[in-house]
Amino acid sequence: MQSWILAAWFLAWLSFRAESVCASRHTFRSSTVADSNLTYVRNSNICETTPGVGQISGYINIASNASMWFWFFEARNSPETAPLTLWLNGGPGCSAMIGVFQENGPCTVESDGSTTTLNPYSWNNISNMIYIDQPIGAGFSHGTGTVNSTDDAAKMMWTAFQILYESPEFSAFQGRDLIFATESYGAHYAPVFITYFNAQNALIDSGQLTGQKIIFTSLMISDGKHDPLIQYASYITFAADAPGYGPLQDASTISNMTDAFSKKDGCRAQLEDCYAAGTTHADDALCSAANNVCMQDVFYPAIRGRDSDDLRQASDSTDPFPPTYYQTLLRSQSVLDAIGATSTYDACSADVQTGFDSTGEFGRTALPPLAALADAHFPILIWVGDADIKANWLGVHEAMVSMSWYGNLTLNSTALTNWTIDGTPVASIKSVDSFTFSRVFGGGHNLPAYVPSTALQFFSRVVYKGDPPSTTSSPSSPTTSSRSSAARSVQSIAVWGCALIAVLWTLVASV
Ligand SMILES: *[C@@H]1O[C@H](CO)[C@@H](O)[C@H](O)[C@H]1NC(C)=O
Ligand SMILES: *[C@@H]1O[C@H](CO)[C@@H](O)[C@H](O)[C@H]1NC(C)=O
Ligand SMILES: *[C@@H]1O[C@H](CO)[C@@H](O)[C@H](O)[C@H]1NC(C)=O
Ligand SMILES: *[C@@H]1O[C@H](CO)[C@@H](O)[C@H](O)[C@H]1NC(C)=O
Ligand SMILES: *[C@@H]1O[C@H](CO)[C@@H](O)[C@H](O)[C@H]1NC(C)=O
Ligand SMILES: *[C@@H]1O[C@H](CO)[C@@H](O)[C@H](O)[C@H]1NC(C)=O
Ligand SMILES: *[C@@H]1O[C@H](CO)[C@@H](O)[C@H](O)[C@H]1NC(C)=O
Ligand SMILES: *[C@@H]1O[C@H](CO)[C@@H](O)[C@H](O)[C@H]1NC(C)=O
Repeated sequence: MQSWILAAWFLAWLSFRAESVCASRHTFRSSTVADSNLTYVRNSNICETTPGVGQISGYINIASNASMWFWFFEARNSPETAPLTLWLNGGPGCSAMIGVFQENGPCTVESDGSTTTLNPYSWNNISNMIYIDQPIGAGFSHGTGTVNSTDDAAKMMWTAFQILYESPEFSAFQGRDLIFATESYGAHYAPVFITYFNAQNALIDSGQLTGQKIIFTSLMISDGKHDPLIQYASYITFAADAPGYGPLQDASTISNMTDAFSKKDGCRAQLEDCYAAGTTHADDALCSAANNVCMQDVFYPAIRGRDSDDLRQASDSTDPFPPTYYQTLLRSQSVLDAIGATSTYDACSADVQTGFDSTGEFGRTALPPLAALADAHFPILIWVGDADIKANWLGVHEAMVSMSWYGNLTLNSTALTNWTIDGTPVASIKSVDSFTFSRVFGGGHNLPAYVPSTALQFFSRVVYKGDPPSTTSSPSSPTTSSRSSAARSVQSIAVWGCALIAVLWTLVASV
């Protein structure tokens, strides 16, 4: 009798352990979106190793053939009141894990491909952060079809947010500030996504649609690809004399680029034909061809010999910055098991690139929906690293003062003034109401990677709506941790424990 009770207690204890150890993979089934769920792991302890700071990683399965990878990091400070920020990388087809490990996430990865170092300038210092690999095909996200347009990507992202905000893990964010932060090709995504979400919100308000309202409260785009016509022209101006750096190419190259841009049937003429064709897909091939001509005749000559992301770096650098050691980490099976990733990591998907190219999106402007948001006083920060050639600040500035919104002329006639932090000018900046443009000194294309401290300051301006509670407290020096290997052994103990419990249960069940 006595031993029977003991055995029962032991089994009860085992099942309790099994629950807490084996059920590290959780599932939330949506009751509003058919065939969808959230499958995730809590607190893998990978990358964010700050004690007490939670994280969630996994897939938003928006349909039976479409799984979107996400990685959520709780804010290091006041997570229960801090806003939620969505970070997307560009490409199109590039993974938001670039953001996590190279730009503004909780850690960077050392050259051994496994040791992580905490990033004191991580944006989760002041905001809850969710990084999403999108569209389907980017990073760890996978599905059957290929997403080939920003419009389609917007719909999928909306569905993903429906599932997220319905889930107990994220429902607390309903009504909290929601910041959209992105870079590069994200200049196409952001205004279209926000406009689409707003339209869905209006349908929900009028009772024509059932769902969660998802209200973005501000937008920040660094080094954006906004408008081919303006930005291809800017390669000529920038290569002739990059402010603060000087000429990037010789006069004969500049002259050739100018001819190629302006000549009959050249880059400009072809882009103008594409623009005139509007947004119908009848002229996909025309827009795609225009972009290809411009790449060949204007972009490549402008960047010759240099890294297009950072004019200070040679194109053939053997030790390019930012390093890609994180990709080794994301190929480690034990790390994948720990974070709940079941697909193969692809930093930038060639299939997605090809898809967007085939619909001609690279030749089209992304300005009209951005202009409409600016015109409606939606808070927008446009910031550009001044060493980036690809989305150089002269071109982005020209796009902002040329697009159709009430502040364009005022912005153009307002001078940039230096923003000085701790005695050092970090950027020059100007605003019209809630619209801000900035040239960031010394920044390259993936901006936060080059100027992490300044980037966190910019993010603070957005989070605290221009009024950070205090200027920089000196951050503690980065601490190297060997948590990834520790996490690995915890993980293998957990796996063996689960296997043992499973065997015991099978034995019990068969008795
Ligand atoms: C989650 O949803 C996906 C897509 O519909 C499905 O394939 C998968 O089996 C579901 N997972 C769970 C654990 O229910
Ligand atoms: C999923 O399947 C549907 C129906 O076949 C298709 O229309 C859609 O493009 C697919 N989506 C993805 C992301 O694979
Ligand atoms: C400029 O174009 C001419 C004619 O196409 C070509 O011969 C020359 O090599 C080009 N110069 C440079 C610097 O690219
Ligand atoms: C883009 O994708 C859509 C939907 O999957 C498809 O109908 C269309 O043919 C694709 N466009 C091109 C140019 O491949
Ligand atoms: C902006 O101002 C400059 C003069 O400072 C002028 O040359 C240029 O045409 C203006 N741009 C626009 C788009 O108004
Ligand atoms: C500025 O925006 C207005 C609309 O507010 C538009 O009519 C005008 O063309 C724009 N100016 C330039 C230089 O693009
Ligand atoms: C702004 O800062 C830059 C970079 O340090 C410097 O070159 C420039 O002279 C400063 N401009 C003014 C007006 O102080
Ligand atoms: C980020 O937060 C950590 C922990 O709260 C703090 O030690 C660090 O100083 C903060 N970093 C910055 C740049 O404020």
